[in-house]
Amino acid sequence: MIKITDQVFHLQTNDTSYIFAVSEGLLLHHYYGAKIAFFDIDHLKVKLHGGAGTAIEYEGKKQVYTNYLPFEYSTYGTGDYREPALLFHNMTDGFYANFKYVSYELDKNIKGPLPEAKDPDDLLKIILEDDSRHLQLQLVYKVFEDTNVISRYVRLINQSTSSIYLSRMFSGQWDFEADDLEMLTFDGAWAKERQKQTHRLDGGIFINDAKCGSSSNTHNPLTILKPSTTTEDAGWAFGFNIVYSGNHKTLVETMPNNQRRLLLGMSDFAFNYCVNSNETFTTCEVVMTYTNEGLNDLSNNFHAFVNRHIIPKQFQFKNRPIVLNNWEATYFNFNEKKILELAKKAQEVGIELFVLDDGWFGKRNDDHSSLGDWDVNLQKLPNGLKGLADKINRLGLQFGLWFEPEMISENSDLYRSHPTWAVKFPNHTPSLGRNQLLLDLTNPEVVAYLKTKLSKTLSEANISYVKWDYNRNITDMYGSALSNQGEFLHRYILGLYEVIDYLTNCFPNILFEGCASGGNRFDLGMLCFFPQIWTSDDTDYVERLFIQTGTSYGYPLSTISNHVSSVPNHQTLRTTPLHSRFYLGCFGVLGYEMNLCEQDQETLKAIKSQIILYKKYRHLWQFGRFYRSYPTIFELNRMGFYVMDEKKQLGLYGFFQTLVHPYMSNDVVKINHLDDNYYVFYNIIQKLNLLDFGGLINIASPIHLKVNGKLHRFIGKVYHPNTEKERYIVHGKAFFHAGVKLNPQFMGTGFNNQVRMIGDFGSRLYVFSKMDIKHHLKRTNFKH
Ligand code: GLA
Repeated sequence: MIKITDQVFHLQTNDTSYIFAVSEGLLLHHYYGAKIAFFDIDHLKVKLHGGAGTAIEYEGKKQVYTNYLPFEYSTYGTGDYREPALLFHNMTDGFYANFKYVSYELDKNIKGPLPEAKDPDDLLKIILEDDSRHLQLQLVYKVFEDTNVISRYVRLINQSTSSIYLSRMFSGQWDFEADDLEMLTFDGAWAKERQKQTHRLDGGIFINDAKCGSSSNTHNPLTILKPSTTTEDAGWAFGFNIVYSGNHKTLVETMPNNQRRLLLGMSDFAFNYCVNSNETFTTCEVVMTYTNEGLNDLSNNFHAFVNRHIIPKQFQFKNRPIVLNNWEATYFNFNEKKILELAKKAQEVGIELFVLDDGWFGKRNDDHSSLGDWDVNLQKLPNGLKGLADKINRLGLQFGLWFEPEMISENSDLYRSHPTWAVKFPNHTPSLGRNQLLLDLTNPEVVAYLKTKLSKTLSEANISYVKWDYNRNITDMYGSALSNQGEFLHRYILGLYEVIDYLTNCFPNILFEGCASGGNRFDLGMLCFFPQIWTSDDTDYVERLFIQTGTSYGYPLSTISNHVSSVPNHQTLRTTPLHSRFYLGCFGVLGYEMNLCEQDQETLKAIKSQIILYKKYRHLWQFGRFYRSYPTIFELNRMGFYVMDEKKQLGLYGFFQTLVHPYMSNDVVKINHLDDNYYVFYNIIQKLNLLDFGGLINIASPIHLKVNGKLHRFIGKVYHPNTEKERYIVHGKAFFHAGVKLNPQFMGTGFNNQVRMIGDFGSRLYVFSKMDIKHHLKRTNFKH
């Protein structure tokens, strides 16, 4: 809801208020946080009665110091020396800007040119003008009530007769005060994406940005502000994200009196955009949320928001298929026979969709050639895409295909016929990334070509899924069709959005999965088109614990694509138990990526039961309310993830461990937000592997067994006793305040069959469900 009285604007979601007002013609920010009511806004206003010092009085007005005023959107040139949201100039009028409030409009149907969140409850457009420069600014605010999210973007309309050059234009600004403040960022690298980092903001300027042309695996655009006391389940926090897939920036400037300014949006780095007379420039959208119930609640806001307002409508809350991807099974070395054998095994274990990854096109037998030649390689697949897809369909599986459309190999027919379509600086040797160059998406000819070529290939066969990859960052930025090279990085992203908007509209039923060497472009811009993203090329259980935890702060499980791969893991060479890889993969969209034809019967049997289990709870694992236990894996060697349905009737709790240590604290499961009701909580019983006990087996064995000897191995193969069995009845409130103290883990002595054999990289899955306690009491004849 948006309430407007006497130039005071009160944007409200279910639990938050965002308030700004006009004063001296300026648009000033007054409050963002828990939902409030007010008689008038006097008590919210920053009081400026102090001495001037070096501060400047705005337009000669006594004690109106712009350097201390909380602005809704700041510019430069009237005495505010903090980082401005907008900076531009032209040759005759320089950098000065002074925008004043003019009017507002309420209209839910306004749409911007960039990808943005859909279906707001309300939309407010504020119009500001700088008369002397003949420029209009439109600040657009969207309110998403039930998810507690407010979004913003900005348009600049050049009504003057000359061009202006933007050197920065952020989408959002928030001027506020806070003493104890930290920023959480999600940083990393290839195979190590979105590692949670905490930064104290005690003074100066802190920046989280990307400069490589994509939203990056180095610094994800998601940021969180909180005091040091906030935990997963308690305390206030503000979350921010940017609906953009290119260079982004979030900046916090802290003044000595702890006045803070947050700016966020497209980065101003290597950005210089010319807005000609009568042209409009629109920024990307940014989103923000607030909670006073801890980081899990903040994540829940973002998860609900992404699921309801970012993901393409036709995929909202739609179960995602379980895929088998052939990449780690075959790499480039496959033919139709091999693929069909894999697909057959996939069908036997219950997989639903087969994805043919890199190597099916041109002459691509390694990563040195053929990107750009999106025609099937008939040597590998003599019956073409259609022939293969039909056979896979006949097995009862859907068929999916890998593409990397933004790229071009120098060794490709496309490069030979259009060398100028590659991104490279004239007369310089371009820098290669994974032996390839980028296609120049700032060139309309290239955009048109990609639309036509890809639509044609996608129409050739019954394709249900596309993995859209992007395996190098931008260098040598130069667009042969551009008149201003300062626009290259932004125009590249505009070109990309044009292509994917076109294709996803032409093929609305194809499920697109975003990928950029794993998670180099995991952002809300891509999610506006692609409902899920390949989280990381790293499928190692331990690394994934960190990656999936970090990702979960801002992105819902339905977007987090996870594959169970073989061991030793191809990224770390680590060997971890299959059930751990599976349970962790379940918290998101599950898939497999291993050579099923080379797995033994026991593994295939286990995978088959895993898939049955995942299908049983799939909707919960993809769309349930998700929580992290506290401390998380970033603080401790064990953690829990849990999901539950909206009605809090059924939930799943995954317990995950890295390295085991003796004398660890007891494992206590705490589940928050349950109802005033009883719940039954129990573990999924697994099978023990006797070989894990090594020589200790002789303590129990009536005859001495030589470790790893024939008999030992035989017994290990045929005899699999059950793990512990735990079952508790717990009141919903006690579940969080007291928790469930689990059986002890193995610690050398005192072993019995109820000890939890978790070990290094071990895990457990627990189910909790609401119970009818009266019925239960009657059944068990239990007396109070
Ligand atoms: C990237 C992707 C992988 C795989 C390869 C194929 O690295 O992230 O999943 O598709 O490309 O070349």
